[in-house]
Amino acid sequence: MTSGGDSPGMNAAIRSVVRTCAFHNIECVGIYRGYEGMIEGDFKSMDARSVKGIINKGGTVLKSARSHEFRTTEGRKQAYEKLTEANIDALVTIGGDGTFTGAMIFNKEFNFPVIGIPGTIDNDIYGTSHTLGYDTALNTVVDAIDKIRDTASSHNRLFFIEVMGRDAGHIALNVGIGAGAEEILIPEEDLGLDRLLESLRRSKQSGKSSSIVVVAEGDKIGKNVFELKDYVEEHMIEYDVRVSVLGHMQRGGSPSCFDRVLASRMGVKAVEALLEEKTNLMVGLLNDKIALTPLDKAVKGKSEINMELLRVSDIMTV
Ligand code: F6P
Repeated sequence: MTSGGDSPGMNAAIRSVVRTCAFHNIECVGIYRGYEGMIEGDFKSMDARSVKGIINKGGTVLKSARSHEFRTTEGRKQAYEKLTEANIDALVTIGGDGTFTGAMIFNKEFNFPVIGIPGTIDNDIYGTSHTLGYDTALNTVVDAIDKIRDTASSHNRLFFIEVMGRDAGHIALNVGIGAGAEEILIPEEDLGLDRLLESLRRSKQSGKSSSIVVVAEGDKIGKNVFELKDYVEEHMIEYDVRVSVLGHMQRGGSPSCFDRVLASRMGVKAVEALLEEKTNLMVGLLNDKIALTPLDKAVKGKSEINMELLRVSDIMTV
């Protein structure tokens, strides 16, 4: 099952789960539309060939949804009945923290075996250095910023570019460095408006004619990109400012090789962990090894931002 926001690599993970089941002679059933489909019994049997040609596809062939009904005891009871009727006795769920929270409650209430695979572009899950889709999103966003820079430098403009990351600045920080941004605003650090103005002044004085500021959507500064534009225009009339909100294009597209390999490794581990009667765990990547972390830790733990990257960014914009 895939649930919550889609991310590139989810299909590769579905393929891996299905094929690992086939390899071990276990019957595999796909649950459509996340917990919504689980409640309605929207299931389809999947064999090794049913997942052909999807490793390179973005989105999720099982579709996804955010279910309100699954948050109710009645909804979860109905889901349990549907799973039992279909002889489904274990669950691999691919998604983010909301998906895992649902899985944990379900496990607790019905003692139903669950293993999670982290799929979200935000990389905001504890217990894995990379979530599925994060690497692809970084490359997609860097590519988009490179294109915007063409206009920024041709017209001597300052661009505020909003990238995804509701609660996490992983995308912003990495693409900021990768695309050579002058400033990076992330939720984990409140750099303040004064520092932003000061940094933009310094760039101008050092001879830069255009600038890129990458802003994570959940940035702490308290202003959205459009308000930032107004603020800077008000205080620095010398700047011609534009805004670009990249939006959902960041979540789409063909997964990178890294995400395809990671998804394949995670799918194998998820099924084999269930076979070993492990439950309530998330499969993650730690020091390039596939490792299991309790779901509650994955949800409650904080995926720390790499502070060294902030320093690297500061040095690069000297
Ligand atoms: O997938 C995570 C995320 O991309 C967040 O960064 C963003 O806030 C959210 O999903 C938006 O998703 P949706 O519009 O599908 O609710």
